[in-house]
Formats: sequence, structure tokens, C-alpha cells
Amino acid sequence: MAADTDAALTSGLRLLHAAASTQASRTDAIFLAMLLLCGTVAIVLLVLVVWFSLRYRRGRDVDRTPPRQMKGIELAWTVTPLLIFFGVFGWAARDYVTMADPPADALPVSVVARQWMWKLQHRSGRREINELHVPLGEPVVLTMTSQDVIHSFFIPAFRLKQDVLPGRYTRLWFTATQLGEFPLFCSEYCGSEHSQMTGRVVVMSPSDYGRWLASGPSEPGMAQYGFALFRQLGCSGCHDPRSTIHAPLLEGLYGRTVHLQDGRSRVADADYLRDSILVPAKDVVAGFAPVMPSFAGQVSEEDLQALIAYIQSTSARDTTP
Ligand code: CUA
Repeated sequence: MAADTDAALTSGLRLLHAAASTQASRTDAIFLAMLLLCGTVAIVLLVLVVWFSLRYRRGRDVDRTPPRQMKGIELAWTVTPLLIFFGVFGWAARDYVTMADPPADALPVSVVARQWMWKLQHRSGRREINELHVPLGEPVVLTMTSQDVIHSFFIPAFRLKQDVLPGRYTRLWFTATQLGEFPLFCSEYCGSEHSQMTGRVVVMSPSDYGRWLASGPSEPGMAQYGFALFRQLGCSGCHDPRSTIHAPLLEGLYGRTVHLQDGRSRVADADYLRDSILVPAKDVVAGFAPVMPSFAGQVSEEDLQALIAYIQSTSARDTTP
């Protein structure tokens, strides 16, 4: 009973929402440090303003001769804040870079936003809507796109927010540190039902997560479905190693650097593969003719992600001994 009251009291007094990811505690630390730093500066200035205006008010008999040069003090109040704020910049930049660089072994989840719902799919093929189940303590990376307007994927308890844009992929990664359910929001105005584009993130123990993954309706894995599409859409007609048509081979392509006809080079990531399927004339591989037709309008966002998952899976096979 006493513990309940304590919990209620602390949650009532808590300034911030529960911090439930590794990034959340780092973001909170920066936020609190900035609050303390700026609060201290503001209070010092306020005290000085009040003190000087009382001390030097009209009619007071005080020494008003202007001080001579005080180089030491001027240097100190210029250089000290400069160094402190450079320090804060370095600290925040390090966290920002960490956020932009998901670990290689992170669990991939695909996200497609539309007016007004979140569609998510795990690599096993398991789909969910407005819900994201993740295992505790394991990094998860979301590859996100929108099939209509700009949305924004926002999990306050993880201190994470990322715009979800039509026509390209954005990524977000996190490691959950608390079991439980956390609210998910769309934080970019996306039309009349924007405020209802909400959901929840469910953090489960890894074994519960494994059971949850296995418990869904049986669906082909994303890579497997992608392979079926690869044949169905006719991609394999040209890109198969046995094909007589001169087209780049896609086995093990994912993550490699590709040299292009015009001298540029690009890393074959999800964005590159997406562009190659929808706008094939944009990045023509060196040594090949620009003969591939565009598949824009023929493949849904989900199908694109499945095709990319398939190409990615051939690289995974390639690198594992
Ligand atoms: Cu989607 Cu706001």
C-alpha cells in the first residue's frame, strides 16, 4: 500500500515521462544539463539586474566613475561560456551521431504510414497495425516510408521522433529498457484524422516476443515474399545469373558500393534499391544500358520493402560463412 502511494506521488511529481530506451536517458541528461545551465545564467542575470538597479538608482550616493579596462573579466565571461557551449555541442553531436547509426545486428521492422494509420511488418512476415511489439534490451531499427503525405513517428517514452516521408526511407533505431506499453503518436499534421493516428509500442521479454512472433497468422517471411514478387514481376527474367540479358546481378549487392555510368558511386542501401526499381534511369550502373522499365505504380510500398528485404537476404547469405 505504502509503495503504491510512493509510486503515485513520484509519478505525480515527475517532470518527464518514463524514460524507456537507452536513448531516452541520454536525451534527458542533455535536457536537464541545458535546463540547469540556462537556468543558472538566467538567475544570475536577474539577480544582477535587480541588485544594480537598486544600488545605482537615482539619488543614491555611490561611486559612479566608469571602471578602467577590465580585460581579465571580459575575457573570462566571453571564453568560459564559449567553452561550455562547445562542450554541450560536442556532447549532443555525439548522441546525434549514435542515433543516426543503427547497430548492424539491429532487428529490422518496416513501417508504412498512410492517412491515418501505421502499418508495420516484421521480417518473419508478421504484420501489425498501430502497434509495434519489440523485445526488451535488443536494438530495433525501423525503415519507414509514407504512401501519401508526411507523417512523423513519435514515441515520447523513448524520446524519439522521426519524419516519415513519401518517396524515400527514413530510419529510427532504439533499444527498449523497460517492459510495458508506451504510446505512439503521429506528430506531423497529416489531415483531418491526424490526432487519431496513434498506437502503442509493446515491449516484451525476448522469449515472449519470440512466442508472439510465432503466434500470428502464418505468412511468408518478407524475404520469401520478396523473392516471389521478384519472379512474378519479371525481375528474375533479366537479373537472374542464367539470364541471357545483360543486367546487373543482385546477389550480395546490398551494402556494396556501386559505380555508375556517369562516374558517381552509391552504396546499395534501401534508398538506392528503391530508386533503381522506381526510377531506373537515375542511377545507371557502369557498363550497362539504361533499358530497365520503371516499376512505379506497379508495386506498393509494402511490396517494395519485401523486394528490398529479399535482395538484402542474399547479401546476408553471402557474408555468413
Ligand atoms: Cu499522420 Cu499526423
